[in-house]
Amino acid sequence: MMLEEILEKIKPREEERERVQSIIEDLREIAERVIEKSGEEAEVKFVGSIAKDTYLSGDHDIDMFLAFPLSTPLEILKSKGLKIAKSIGERLENHEISYAEHPYVRGTYRGYQVDIVPCYNVRHWKEVRTAVDRSILHTEWVIENLRGRNDEVRLLKRFLKGIGAYGSEIYIRGFSGYLAEILIIKFGSFMKVLEKSDFILRQKIIDPGNWLKKEPEMAMKTIKREVDEDKPLIVIDPVDPRRNVASNLSWERYGLFYFKSQEFLRNPSKEFFFPSAKRGNYLKAIRERKTHLVTLLFKPPDLVDDILLPQIEKSAKGIKKQLELKGFRVLGYDYGRNFIMFEVDRIERENVEIKKGPLYYTNHGQRFYEKNEKVWIEGKDLWSEKNVNGFIVDVLEEIISKGAFSSGKNVRDVIASSNILIDFVPKELRDHAFLFLSREKFRVK
Ligand code: CTP
Ligand code: MG
Repeated sequence: MMLEEILEKIKPREEERERVQSIIEDLREIAERVIEKSGEEAEVKFVGSIAKDTYLSGDHDIDMFLAFPLSTPLEILKSKGLKIAKSIGERLENHEISYAEHPYVRGTYRGYQVDIVPCYNVRHWKEVRTAVDRSILHTEWVIENLRGRNDEVRLLKRFLKGIGAYGSEIYIRGFSGYLAEILIIKFGSFMKVLEKSDFILRQKIIDPGNWLKKEPEMAMKTIKREVDEDKPLIVIDPVDPRRNVASNLSWERYGLFYFKSQEFLRNPSKEFFFPSAKRGNYLKAIRERKTHLVTLLFKPPDLVDDILLPQIEKSAKGIKKQLELKGFRVLGYDYGRNFIMFEVDRIERENVEIKKGPLYYTNHGQRFYEKNEKVWIEGKDLWSEKNVNGFIVDVLEEIISKGAFSSGKNVRDVIASSNILIDFVPKELRDHAFLFLSREKFRVK
């Protein structure tokens, strides 16, 4: 059976498991020693897919949490927690501090990436105080409920990765590992989850923790909020009725899962799990499509993706709108931390802008006549035209330098001083440009 062949590749073998175990033991020892020396009372807990035994072979991500007693004030948790995490980091091979909503330390140890995250030692959702506290509860819930179906989770995760629907990061908005685990727990197996791709969307609400019975008010509030935001799927977190586990899942990523599951059931193949890389020449794509690629390149401010990317997306939409008002047809846009790309129908437009004015025998007409340089009559109406520069680089420069587009406040200035590139991108964006032009990102057929 094909699924067994896939499992051969993605299920960690004994040797890898032992390595992971010994790394975890090392890390625990290092961390406990540092904590003891600090005089604090934090407990070391491993969470994430390694703790749940749902990691894919070769995944080198370890989440180590430092769980502080609930009596610790938040400010102390942040400062002391970070200090302890740093000194654990110093005992690893290398480390850096990441400032997310919640600062943590990311280090490397024996080839594994280790996230060292301070949090509260919560037992119950009512005790959750920081965004990461729930992970401990998630880990416990999954371990309790998965009951030997770990490989089914692995298949589902690999499938979702293969079709490009895995990862809850803001620049992906796909399925998280935890969501995949819940779906397996709810529907029983990889194949059953695939069979339910339409049902899940129609039913919309999944409530594995029975919150609608236990905490109906809270659960309904969550549902209402998520429905109002038009989320494709609402999975009430079994460890916290206030949260939708699928709240970062976009309609596009669900759509990939929707079509690809159906296709897989009709026509299963390993390609779904391990697709051959979709690569091509973006220059050829531009030529064949008879369109043009315009890229704004800028130096992003030092902000985390969660803050930066939504602002860049907003700016991309804002600039697109302005380009369209200036007469360019924008066929699509894409963006990343340091660029915005547009596919446009042309890069030169006419060098005149024509404007219809008021009736010529009115006060308004008089004013129009005075204000414009070149004016003529058609019927009873005045018209005027002025010379403008029709080259897209000039048009864009005018738009961005004036800041005349809606954007995020942290990016307006860096975008204003972008380099503008036509039908050409730097080496590191070539693949991206091809994927964008060929619409591979959300392609389902
Ligand atoms: N988490 C979450 N929601 C997200 C991302 C993460 O609740 N959108 C929590 C979960 O408790 C998860 C933990 O953070 O178990 C670790 O996150 P991550 O490493 O992204 O997920 P894993 O379950 O470890 O899956 P993977 O195999 O992809 O590492
Ligand atoms: Mg992980």
